[in-house]
Amino acid sequence: MIRRVRLRFAAIAPNERRKNQPGKANKQVDYAAIGREAVSRIQSADDLGSLESLRVEFLGKQGSVSGLLKTLGKLSPDERKDTGPKIHALRESVTDALALRKQALENAELEARLSSEKLDMSLPAPESAPGSIHPVSQVLDELAEIFADLGFAVASGPEIEDDWHNFTALNMPESHPARAMHDTFYFPDAAPDGGRMLLRTHTSPVQVRTMQEQGAPLRIIAPGRVYRSDSDATHTPMFHQVEGLVIDRDIHLGHLKWTLETFLKAFFEREDIVLRLRPSYFPFTEPSVEVDVGYSREANRRSVGGSGDDPGHDWMELLGSGMVNARVLEMSGLDPNEWQGFAFGVGVDRLAMLKYGMDDLRPFFDGDLRWLRHYGFSSFDQPTLSAGVGARA
Ligand code: PHE
Repeated sequence: MIRRVRLRFAAIAPNERRKNQPGKANKQVDYAAIGREAVSRIQSADDLGSLESLRVEFLGKQGSVSGLLKTLGKLSPDERKDTGPKIHALRESVTDALALRKQALENAELEARLSSEKLDMSLPAPESAPGSIHPVSQVLDELAEIFADLGFAVASGPEIEDDWHNFTALNMPESHPARAMHDTFYFPDAAPDGGRMLLRTHTSPVQVRTMQEQGAPLRIIAPGRVYRSDSDATHTPMFHQVEGLVIDRDIHLGHLKWTLETFLKAFFEREDIVLRLRPSYFPFTEPSVEVDVGYSREANRRSVGGSGDDPGHDWMELLGSGMVNARVLEMSGLDPNEWQGFAFGVGVDRLAMLKYGMDDLRPFFDGDLRWLRHYGFSSFDQPTLSAGVGARA
């Protein structure tokens, strides 16, 4: 197939005819004039787009100058000697002109942008969403900080627990009525040892596991999720507790009271915290003590502080505690004649509600961004005892 070279210059049209008449060079072709015309068109291209079209028109595969170059092969050596340098010079001048014009147009474009675009360094940075710390995480951090200062380590245990650790070792054998107090989520299949698996109903099994693993003496808190089949404004099927456990040789109820008072004063950041210890019953403590805290009913929201017997005040049940039952020590591998101690368990979500003024527990676990923005805390606001354990966000 003969590929016809498209020639765009009227002045060089005769070249085409020359192809069919080898040996008869057309001396009339004025390559210099062609070059001048091309260069002048290039120089008047007023944007990069039209310059590119000109480049294709002259030097592209089908371009006119490329077409001229291709004719060289068909010329006689003599003709080539005369015409070759002229065509090459033509191509060179077109190439140079293109490069020159391109540079000029690019410079002009940059100039135009520099003079029209503005960078306002005084503008505030665009807002980004840094996220926030969930109130439960915040309170857990605060608790860890306070108890670390009192020499407590943090312990943990599984949320999928066995019957033995959750109940039996805590002095609640099968058919013990206290088991019915916990609306337990059981798994349908039996555990390898024949017992049942369940979602732990409290953090107390971590007491047993830690005594088994670490022996005594001990000073730990065990924060974590717990589960009960229960749901209303102040109960969700999953919630958070912190267990506390201190085991040593001479630990007594006075230590428990001092520890709770010190912890609650630090947590609520007020000195006027008043506690009331009430006799109670838990299978795993003996004696058992329920702890109430005085609060004011006058403010819009409940505010902790003052005695519950003061005018306008009342008592609020806050946590369960007691001296660890000797049978629990025994089942956890400790000699009750050598070791004794106290334990307590407190709802973390309830502490968060009291301190930060939420009255409904359910939105804690809805993942609603508006709620989280309102009640969440800045990740830069780390609880420390020296700077005040509470967040100011
Ligand atoms: N485990 C108890 C509960 O969930 C709380 C508690 C812990 C009571 C430790 C006494 C000692 O209600």
